[in-house]
Amino acid sequence: MEYTKLGRTGLEVSVAGLGCGGHSRLGKTRGASTAESIEVVEAALDLGINFIDTAPAYGTESIVGTALKGRRDKVVLSTKTQIVNSGSDFLGSDFKDPGTLRTDLEKSLKALQTDYVDVYHLHGVMPDQYPWCAEHLAPVLKDLQSEGKIRFTGITERFIHDPPHHMLIDALKDDHWDVIMTGFNLINPSARDVVFPQTRSRAVGTLLMFAVRRALSQPDALRSLMVDLVAEGLISAGEIDADNPLDFLLAESDANSVVEAAYRFCRHEPGVDIVLTGTGSVDHLVENVGSILKPALSENTHMRLRGLFGHINSVSGN
Ligand SMILES: NC(=O)c1ccc[n+]([C@@H]2O[C@H](COP(=O)([O-])OP(=O)(O)OC[C@H]3O[C@@H](n4cnc5c(N)ncnc54)[C@H](OP(=O)(O)O)[C@@H]3O)[C@@H](O)[C@H]2O)c1
Repeated sequence: MEYTKLGRTGLEVSVAGLGCGGHSRLGKTRGASTAESIEVVEAALDLGINFIDTAPAYGTESIVGTALKGRRDKVVLSTKTQIVNSGSDFLGSDFKDPGTLRTDLEKSLKALQTDYVDVYHLHGVMPDQYPWCAEHLAPVLKDLQSEGKIRFTGITERFIHDPPHHMLIDALKDDHWDVIMTGFNLINPSARDVVFPQTRSRAVGTLLMFAVRRALSQPDALRSLMVDLVAEGLISAGEIDADNPLDFLLAESDANSVVEAAYRFCRHEPGVDIVLTGTGSVDHLVENVGSILKPALSENTHMRLRGLFGHINSVSGN
């Protein structure tokens, strides 16, 4: 494993982080047993991963808590809190009472079997929700930080609904956030222009999600996304092989698969501290960590990707 500093937090973290949400939720979405999910967390630790991201919404906090018993201090733990009342529209404005943050955190601490969280995020904030969060929730996070219950504050975007990063563009104008989580991948690399310059200049720790989602792990989803991009005039049909849109990556680089190329693309982007990988499969985890640790793709491959997708900021690749 390779390690780096998570921005101004100074935390020494693995460049690959285990994501316990996404479509897999440690395999829970396909019916994995708790023991099988714990095996994924243990495999991550064996691979040298020391950054684990979870959230109450994923239902994986207690799995992580059980898997980390006796080795909590070896790991940097990241979890989150929802900003709207449970059961209400997560894109809406039925905001929770700011005082609830404390009870939410207590529930997370209990599930995680710990008395502090390293990074505590506001989970999936939309651009029009951000001003309320900055005014009402950021001060509570600061209090929790000064009490030692959380070490650092974080905020995550809702990349599927906000692929041009409008929320983070606003959030990074403030100095509330020690860590952010953003979407970035070879089909929508727009964080390169609008997020990373700000995180780098403020030394905000940067976690990356959506390196590989459906479009980059499922050929049918990729073909259908390309059809949409052509229909929207964002790429021209002649630029891409409709049946195998990203196979040029395998022909032109030393990557063994699109998934491998997708992780390598993200890992070497300046400004990215941790690439999160979420899976319910130990084999996929081993493969993905191997990909994240491989060298950057060639400059020619990067140029071709930039020409094809460098201007795209309207899709997430979900
Ligand atoms: N707004 C937010 O706060 C937010 C939103 C989304 C995600 N996150 C966090 O970010 C983490 C990463 O999420 P993500 O969106 O990047 O997606 P992800 O959870 O990493 O999903 C990757 C998907 O690709 C599959 N996959 C993984 N490795 C593969 C391989 N080698 N070959 C083929 N398929 C493979 C996985 O399924 P298998 O189980 O079959 O491997 C999974 O469905 C999440 O776990 C979560 O912690 C946060």
